[in-house]
Amino acid sequence: MALEDAAISSELKAQGSKLILGIESSCDETAAAVVANGETVLSSVVASQMSTHGKYGGVVPELASREHLRAIVPVVREALERAGTRLEDLAAIAATVGPGLVGSLLVGLTYAKSLSFASGRPLIAVNHIEGHIHAVVLETKRAGGAVEFPALALVVSGGHTHLFEVREGFRYRLLGKTRDDAAGEAFDKVAKLLGYGYPGGPVIDRLAPYGDSQAVRFTFAKMKGNVLDFSFSGLKTAVLRWVESRDIAAEIEARRNLLRAGNPSTDEWLAATPQATLDLLASFQHAVIRELLTRGARSAAEIDARSVIIAGGVACNSGLREAARSADLPCPVYFPSPGLSTDNAAMIAAAAFPKFENRQFSSLEIRAEAGLTLA
Ligand code: KG4
Ligand code: ZN
Repeated sequence: MALEDAAISSELKAQGSKLILGIESSCDETAAAVVANGETVLSSVVASQMSTHGKYGGVVPELASREHLRAIVPVVREALERAGTRLEDLAAIAATVGPGLVGSLLVGLTYAKSLSFASGRPLIAVNHIEGHIHAVVLETKRAGGAVEFPALALVVSGGHTHLFEVREGFRYRLLGKTRDDAAGEAFDKVAKLLGYGYPGGPVIDRLAPYGDSQAVRFTFAKMKGNVLDFSFSGLKTAVLRWVESRDIAAEIEARRNLLRAGNPSTDEWLAATPQATLDLLASFQHAVIRELLTRGARSAAEIDARSVIIAGGVACNSGLREAARSADLPCPVYFPSPGLSTDNAAMIAAAAFPKFENRQFSSLEIRAEAGLTLA
């Protein structure tokens, strides 16, 4: 534990700060964090299972539960140690209750229940999607500001692409969501198809700046019914057609071999990616960003948003960040720092803080819910 963390931690404890232990295990990351008053991250530990699932090109649920079982105890212990905190110092224990893979959720939630029972501290169940939104709330508070309401939240990850109106007191209204794939899933499927492995977002993000984003024209999904809904399956199919109409099997195989040999650098990927494929990647990323920001801006206007929150794994995307900043939205746009964009437990502890203050505690009977919705 860093001396500084220990000093901050004991000072916060002396000031009567509310320390919440957060636990996250909804997908392929086992994470634990200690956060004071919903704004000061004393520790945040994330054990990624990327190396386990990478070779399968996506998350394998059975393997994920097994890995969570292996990691949960050491990860929680490390989070407490790094924060210089004992169970008795905690005000509450928070865990993700859904949505996610049920076998994965069960591991974190059950462990949180046991800790709650053993320590006598209340259990707070947190919706994973609300957690992503609170990553931004936490950092804004930490910087001395506050997200102004009503806010528009675009939660965009491997499992979700949702637009919510967020009102004072963290009340949510669903404005739109994907009707098929999530945006991150589209990144992952396109990367897998082209031989870049899993997860696809980070590698496409790194290579897109080397291509021409106007080279391949993708049609914008026209939605019948709710125009704020998204669709990404057409884009994915268009990429598949592009691949099928060209003789690039050898190129794809070369990349798969590169991946088998280790963790390729950007230069190695570039050497294995002809210009036409770089143009395809750039155009694909550009089309995803256009889809996200067009519907995002429209929703923000519809609710007269005073701030826009973009959160979830895809919020790491540098092209999306740049485009959102220059999109000329009539209110500030907030992104979490990259470490808090992808799955982590600090966001879960932060989301639990207002619930702690409102004494919204959960019973130990609460069940993990794979299909839990936020609104
Ligand atoms: O939030 P997250 O860690 O897990 C879910 O709740 O799904 O998001 C993971 C997703 C993956 O689909 C991954 O490809 C995507 O976020 N992602 C990115 C980037 N980094 C991660 N997508 C685009 N650009 C990135 N830089
Ligand atoms: Zn997530």
